Amino acid sequence: MTGFAGKAAAIIASAILVGAVGAGYLFSGLYPVGADVPHTRAVLWLLQTLRERSIERASGDIVVPPLDDPQLLLSGGADYNDMCAGCHLKPGRKESDFSVGLYPRPPNLAARVDGPGARHADEMQTARRRFWVIKHGIKASGMPAWGRTHDDQRIWAMVAFLRRLPELTPLQYQILTARKQPEPATDGPVSVGE
Ligand code: HEC
Repeated sequence: MTGFAGKAAAIIASAILVGAVGAGYLFSGLYPVGADVPHTRAVLWLLQTLRERSIERASGDIVVPPLDDPQLLLSGGADYNDMCAGCHLKPGRKESDFSVGLYPRPPNLAARVDGPGARHADEMQTARRRFWVIKHGIKASGMPAWGRTHDDQRIWAMVAFLRRLPELTPLQYQILTARKQPEPATDGPVSVGE
């Protein structure tokens, strides 16, 4: 009985000690939070596991619409170029200030192997994952939640475009991402912009 009580006391004491050391470290301000110093392995593992498990669970039930509609591809391309290429790059562009300076780094979505997402070889799962991430963003990473300002249709169009992006040459990219110019006015005032 005393042996058991002693053991229990020792376990509780060490738990309190570990907690106190952890709290001490947390409040000490010693952990480098700057984006130019990588996480320690343990913190990286923790954050990556948290992210991967969360995305997997949240995106599991999403129904993927047909993604080979050419119209979808075209509208997705223009949006991608305007809103995403600065961070996620495009054919012929290997780096940008965002892609270098952000931590975690935004994956190069124009490259054939696209970072953490590449592990998800299943195309449907990749589409679900991408839709969810684009719509909801990822906390404390620089990836915005585009669903706040864009409807599902526009997000699916970008998902459709992303499937083709790694195959595109810089010229094909330029053609697929061009916004349709407004018809030139034959009479009346010339409209400026969209
Ligand atoms: C300001 C920079 C920034 C912009 C702009 C941005 N993203 Fe991201 N995005 C990120 C970062 C950083 C990550 C990685 C987050 C992480 O690893 O936790 C990310 C992750 C992603 C992923 C997940 C990749 C994967 O499978 O892990 C997708 C898909 C994505 N972004 C698509 C887009 C699209 C589409 C747009 C434009 C509508 C966009 N992003 C705009 C920074 C950005």
